[in-house]
Amino acid sequence: MATRAPFLKARYSGYHHRQVPREDAELTHVGPGSPCGEYMRRFWQPICYSDELKDLPVALKILGEELVVFRDGSGAVGLLERHCPHRGTSLEFGLVGAKGIRCCYHGWLFDVDGTILETPGEPATSTLKDRLCHGAYPVHETHGMVFAYMGPPDRMPAFPTYDTFDRPGYRMIPGQKYFYPCNWLQILENTMDAVHTAFLHTIVSGAVFTDEFGVLPELEFAETPVGIIYIATRRVGDNIWARMVENVLPNLQQVAPIWENGQQAHPFSGPMMSRWIVPLDDTNTMLIEFRHISETEGVVTPDWWADRGIMLPGQLGADSYEESQRRPGDFEAQVSQRPVAVHGLEHLGTTDRGITMFRNQVRKGIRAVKEGSDPVGLFRDSSVIPTYCNDTVVRVPPAKTPELDKKLLRETGRRLAQGYIEAPPLMAAAE
Ligand code: FES
Ligand SMILES: [Fe+2]
Repeated sequence: MATRAPFLKARYSGYHHRQVPREDAELTHVGPGSPCGEYMRRFWQPICYSDELKDLPVALKILGEELVVFRDGSGAVGLLERHCPHRGTSLEFGLVGAKGIRCCYHGWLFDVDGTILETPGEPATSTLKDRLCHGAYPVHETHGMVFAYMGPPDRMPAFPTYDTFDRPGYRMIPGQKYFYPCNWLQILENTMDAVHTAFLHTIVSGAVFTDEFGVLPELEFAETPVGIIYIATRRVGDNIWARMVENVLPNLQQVAPIWENGQQAHPFSGPMMSRWIVPLDDTNTMLIEFRHISETEGVVTPDWWADRGIMLPGQLGADSYEESQRRPGDFEAQVSQRPVAVHGLEHLGTTDRGITMFRNQVRKGIRAVKEGSDPVGLFRDSSVIPTYCNDTVVRVPPAKTPELDKKLLRETGRRLAQGYIEAPPLMAAAE
């Protein structure tokens, strides 16, 4: 089957478009052994929040693998293959003990690293448990979130500490989890789609952000040392508001504050949120996030999120089908692109440059892993990693004509971004 549908030029020509090309498997499929799956497995991936681990084990699926996660009595977190190596019973029905988890069927006991501690039904002379290990993955817990490394053991990188994690004057707290029944890539691509905030979030569903978001921005995109940013600039009176939203390869997005209105000049704001788009399988995805809470600015408090129902607007499906049609949000827009969006049916325009750039970055990373090298965004040492998401508002009065002003907006945005890429502001603060 063709990988790209024909470009229709005649009216009433749907017949020539009836075949749906295949999805781009290299970029979208994440199961074991798939090129993108191997790429994703080279990075630490968040799997759940710390406070989800109570007395019962939690079944979960990450990158197409069925797993179980638990915290034993000693406080150690285990991420194990879900099915018992004896005869396959799910360990989600297991008993979490002082040390490890015990299968409910015949009582085999597993430590968090996969060591089999006991096989009660076997004779005392059995050496099976000394010869066999259960599948387990290393975990790392920080700021109330649990991460796992599911790649080849000899290629495990240091846990990445981004410069947004420990900002002076900010607290980083776990946020919420959302699930979208579609492929991870189309969700992450939405970050590089600055135009949708002016249409979907403003014109279609009524201003869900500040009114200033309703103005179509001037758009630029820039590759960073860790991924990509869009630079959306808008004129607000005598100010230029530059908004930079970021994808950090492979699947972290950092979102600039949505309460920005461009009225007050201020320097680099940093993000309000760091959110991972974690593939559960090819057609199901988890969004899991840290929120960055300023300890000084009143607006950026947990209450601010709570007053707004905690969720970002449009992050969950609507209550009814009719409601989803009347007020579609991110969920409806992205999930309805199909379970896996078919790139061969798209007609990308100039505002989609960021999508194309991001796909190219992901493809390069996938191919780097395939060739045995480290992809961009992967760091072997444990130093702090710079990131670039922010709002900045600078006082720059309008140029003489609207056309010149657009140019001025773009130049100002580019100049700011270039400066940040050369000297990442949060790195300076972290030092
Ligand atoms: S199936 Fe788990 S101990 Fe037998
Ligand atoms: Fe959105």
